[in-house]
Amino acid sequence: MSSVFQAPRGIPDYLPPNSSRFLAVRDELTRAARLAGYSHIELPVFEDTALFARGVGESTDVVSKEMYTFADRGDRSVTLRPEGTAGVMRAVLQHGLDRGQLPIKLSYHGPFFRYEKPQTGRYRQLQQVGVEAIGVDDPALDAEVIAVADEGFRRCGLRGYRLEITTLGDDTCRPAYREALQQFLFGLDLDPETRRRAEINPLRVLDDKRPEIKAATADAPLMIDFLSDSVRDNFAAVRGHLDRLGVAYEVNPRLVRGLDYYTKTTFEFVHDGLGAQSGIGGGGRYDGLMSQLGGKQELSGIGFGLGVDRTVLALDAEAVPDTTSARCRVYGVPMGEAALDRLVVIAGELRSKGVSIDIAYGGRALKGAMKGADRSGARLALVLGDRELESGQIEIKDLADGSQRTVALDTVVDDVVATVG
Ligand code: HAM
Repeated sequence: MSSVFQAPRGIPDYLPPNSSRFLAVRDELTRAARLAGYSHIELPVFEDTALFARGVGESTDVVSKEMYTFADRGDRSVTLRPEGTAGVMRAVLQHGLDRGQLPIKLSYHGPFFRYEKPQTGRYRQLQQVGVEAIGVDDPALDAEVIAVADEGFRRCGLRGYRLEITTLGDDTCRPAYREALQQFLFGLDLDPETRRRAEINPLRVLDDKRPEIKAATADAPLMIDFLSDSVRDNFAAVRGHLDRLGVAYEVNPRLVRGLDYYTKTTFEFVHDGLGAQSGIGGGGRYDGLMSQLGGKQELSGIGFGLGVDRTVLALDAEAVPDTTSARCRVYGVPMGEAALDRLVVIAGELRSKGVSIDIAYGGRALKGAMKGADRSGARLALVLGDRELESGQIEIKDLADGSQRTVALDTVVDDVVATVG
């Protein structure tokens, strides 16, 4: 049946059977964060527009082209969250979490919204699992955040990805680099908009995907050649921790992230089986963000956002078997109303003991109901008719080998639990 309504362009639906893999990926990525002490934070789906404009950066594509911004009924400008870091920082400041023990370690998951051009792996509503560790600047913590992401992907069963890392410097070396980069960029024949970008935030120009800009900036100076001693040591320490943790990485000095708040350690996980949208997750340190958002004390932070949608696509691309389906272990086949009444009770008892069971509802004939049982992928079928009811018995059919046995109705729950529980 075709519908009058369609989901808005670029907004995915998560349908069975793939939806169970989506949930499993989200849960495994979150589990990796829990194992390292990150607590859940649930954030609003929309916030003050100014929070993102200031936090993410006016010169980014995310803010200048991709935000879902609208006036609410009170004429306040609000924006559907395009990412999670700015909202976490806002919540930390608003609730004074920064006065407690540091680092504050938080994780979140849910939908984010970016008005991008839709294609495979690029949606206007995208799902992320993210973590933020706020208030401690320690290379071991940088390595932990990266290792948690790596562990999350591994827990999902993903193997064929690469981790790229770099350092984007800090106040001790960024200004000199910025100047050198601007000098280089001003020497190029740039269109007015790109030139304006070079003036506001020259690093953004290195993130330009247009081939002609990529070619023109191929020899641009790199941050990695301008590092101060302290940043160089910091980056070496992060790499040392990653080596000891056994997390493989490659240093990519040309790595530029799409958001403005990054400083020092910055990273991206890339999967080569995904075509153009190959970034399955990324993050980094953002030491200036808190003061940018009005925090009185300057607290550093580091975190990541992992793309749940792209991780699911990457698992499919690697042909990792999906063991997450919501199939029931048992399928009830009632022949008649009295049998249905009894099977409904048996199903309730089985579920309360943790055994999943579905029932052939709708008064189906035996043949059709058994076909449904086979199709359901269940391990056992419980077949109950008037004759069995009268004799206080029920038939258990093993759907894998076709064998059948009859057991007492009073003991069927224990019997099934022992078989498949
Ligand atoms: P991001 O790199 O913009 O970082 O997004 C993180 C991940 O979300 C990407 O690597 C990608 O897998 C996924 N993603 C982004 N846009 C889309 C899209 N349109 N469709 C599908 N998936 C997408 C952040 O958002 C930062 N807040 C991460 C962070 C946290 N940095 C520090 N803390």
